[in-house]
Amino acid sequence: MHVDYYEKIFLWLTIAMLTVMLVAIGNGVLNHDITVAGPEGRVDPLTIDSTPPFDAPGVFQTGDNTFDVYLIARKWQFQPNEIHLPENAVATFYVATPDIVHGFKVIDTNINIMVLPGEISRVTQRFGAAREHLIVCHEYCGTGHQAMFGRIVVGGADTAEDGS
Ligand code: CUA
Repeated sequence: MHVDYYEKIFLWLTIAMLTVMLVAIGNGVLNHDITVAGPEGRVDPLTIDSTPPFDAPGVFQTGDNTFDVYLIARKWQFQPNEIHLPENAVATFYVATPDIVHGFKVIDTNINIMVLPGEISRVTQRFGAAREHLIVCHEYCGTGHQAMFGRIVVGGADTAEDGS
């Protein structure tokens, strides 16, 4: 079969590029703790406010410097609105909503997930030195969408409180 010279070059370039990308993904998963957000479970949106642990959302310490953070995204706020974590904390977020689709994006991190009614979205993030991260809703969710934001405060005296 005759393959044109330039077509051959592009074929090999394509194969090389795909290989590089697959290696990069594999390296990220295996060596850099990069995890893909995925559905963690289900929760009834109508009874979420009385369903543990979402009846008392907040930060829960699970290990040396590891935390589970339960968060509700609703029209038009995050509960809790401000999250305190120590420096270098590894936090796993479990986010759910009682109403409609929201977004959960944390500025200057890899967190960028959708929050769907009925589903618990999970994402894990390793934080660094003391600083603040803005949380924004990046799925249009109605008239209060642009006012739907919160904060993650890393470091400082007031860290890792339950609830709030
Ligand atoms: Cu919630 Cu936009």
